[in-house]
Amino acid sequence: MNKIDDFYYKINLIETNDLPKGWAEEIENLVDRYSTAVFLDGNNPTSREPEETRGMTYHVITGDIIKKSLGWLYELYASRILEIANTISEEVYVADNDLVYAININALKKVGDRYERHVDTEELSAVLFVTDQDDIHGGQLLFHLKEDLIAIYPKSGDLILFDARLVEHEVTALKMDRYRISIPMGYYKKDTQTDSNDEIKSYLYQ
Ligand SMILES: [Fe+2]
Repeated sequence: MNKIDDFYYKINLIETNDLPKGWAEEIENLVDRYSTAVFLDGNNPTSREPEETRGMTYHVITGDIIKKSLGWLYELYASRILEIANTISEEVYVADNDLVYAININALKKVGDRYERHVDTEELSAVLFVTDQDDIHGGQLLFHLKEDLIAIYPKSGDLILFDARLVEHEVTALKMDRYRISIPMGYYKKDTQTDSNDEIKSYLYQ
């Protein structure tokens, strides 16, 4: 990731005119209609949650529904964001051929909702933030570096790219009943993609 100063790269897709008018409302409406609750018990190879705090529920919409319902969002994943990934890195990345896993919409809804500390398995991860998350809202993305904790304050339209296999991360608890929506996406290096790990998939989507 030669153009990544730190361990992640950030670009705002509103400023680059890559998001259609009303995009955030469309995504929120989809969350209202199609998101399903999933319980994570912390018993998974990618979980890094301490034993005493394991067990949390989040809401998800999988890529198959996204492609059917918000075609522009799937296209953004498969073309423009892929292009950004390939611009900032010396690697050549491709979209995940497993549609369910390739792009998701994750939603936290109520005070106390959070996402467990974990790593991911894809070779490059991108996250598009839909909602703003200031201090009063909670829902920051917290990176656990060796010596440091770094909090990212999600801003609507911000896209970050990073190697989520290497950096443990979590989402801090919401401080109020207000949607926190983000869109995680996965890419693989060309020619190295293998079938997604079934154990992880059944854990994340049940
Ligand atoms: Fe992640």
